[in-house]
Amino acid sequence: MCGPSVYISGPIRVRPMNLNIPEPNSSLLAHNPKQTTIQHPPHLRCVLESKLHSPVRGRESMKFTDSPVIELAVNDAVLSLQQDNGSMHVGTTVWPCSLVLVKFAERWGPPSDNNPYARVLDFQGKRAVELGTGCGVAGMGLYLLGLTDLLLTDIAPVMPALKRNLKVNKPILRKSLKHSVLYWNNPQQIAALNPPFDFVIATDVVYIPESVPSLVSAMETLVSDDGVVLLGYQLRAPEAHELFWELCQQVFHVEKVPHEHLHPDYAYEETDVYLLKKKNKKQ
Ligand SMILES: C[S@@+](CC[C@H](N)C(=O)[O-])C[C@H]1O[C@@H](n2cnc3c(N)ncnc32)[C@H](O)[C@@H]1O
Repeated sequence: MCGPSVYISGPIRVRPMNLNIPEPNSSLLAHNPKQTTIQHPPHLRCVLESKLHSPVRGRESMKFTDSPVIELAVNDAVLSLQQDNGSMHVGTTVWPCSLVLVKFAERWGPPSDNNPYARVLDFQGKRAVELGTGCGVAGMGLYLLGLTDLLLTDIAPVMPALKRNLKVNKPILRKSLKHSVLYWNNPQQIAALNPPFDFVIATDVVYIPESVPSLVSAMETLVSDDGVVLLGYQLRAPEAHELFWELCQQVFHVEKVPHEHLHPDYAYEETDVYLLKKKNKKQ
């Protein structure tokens, strides 16, 4: 029997059924990531199997594809995003929230009258870190939009996919973007990044309840008092969803971008952009 309560529509390609994902509460994780794998429960695998063979609403307009290569136009450039269809790690897939966030920022990037996001998307001279970057889509896209002091992070097994994408897109980016291994539950790794950052970027990273506390804690530690978490979000698992928003409400002012403010070609009905700003400022 498939469990009814996990929503996984929206990934761009079929995921393998045994997904190796980090166990955030394991103290081994920080030092020995190779030992940190958990299996998705059977009900999630069932949902994955059934959902991924059915049409996904909005896919056409968002140009979703099962192709190993996805193209994303950002201003005058076109990123080439390479998915690893044989991988056991979710980070080697391009997930839709990353595209939605980049195209939202592209839409509101240029200064204009009546631009409600002019201040929040002012990337000039700002410092940013991305959590769970996967193939690096959000980071590379926002880099092209002017967020140039940027560090992309993920778990060690995802680094080859990230590096491949950075290399393929180097002619467009004109440099190799900085990247680093970061497990959200590793305070030493977080401290080594020398926070705070003006922006923390995260897209489609809320799906494992056990990792939610360390994710929210990492966001809080990494973002500056006046900074912003740019979050591309889609509900994947209700338990993770509820815990994530409960913890976020404690720490952040949460602003949901109205759907009509998303890019019209990338306004997938189940995908949202949130702007999170710290509640408890130390200064
Ligand atoms: C669903 S993928 C999204 C990837 C990418 N952000 C995108 O939107 O295409 C979730 C990402 O979060 C990363 N991740 C999950 N748990 C993590 C943890 N505890 N520490 C660091 N990264 C983690 C995964 O490795 C993966 O790259």
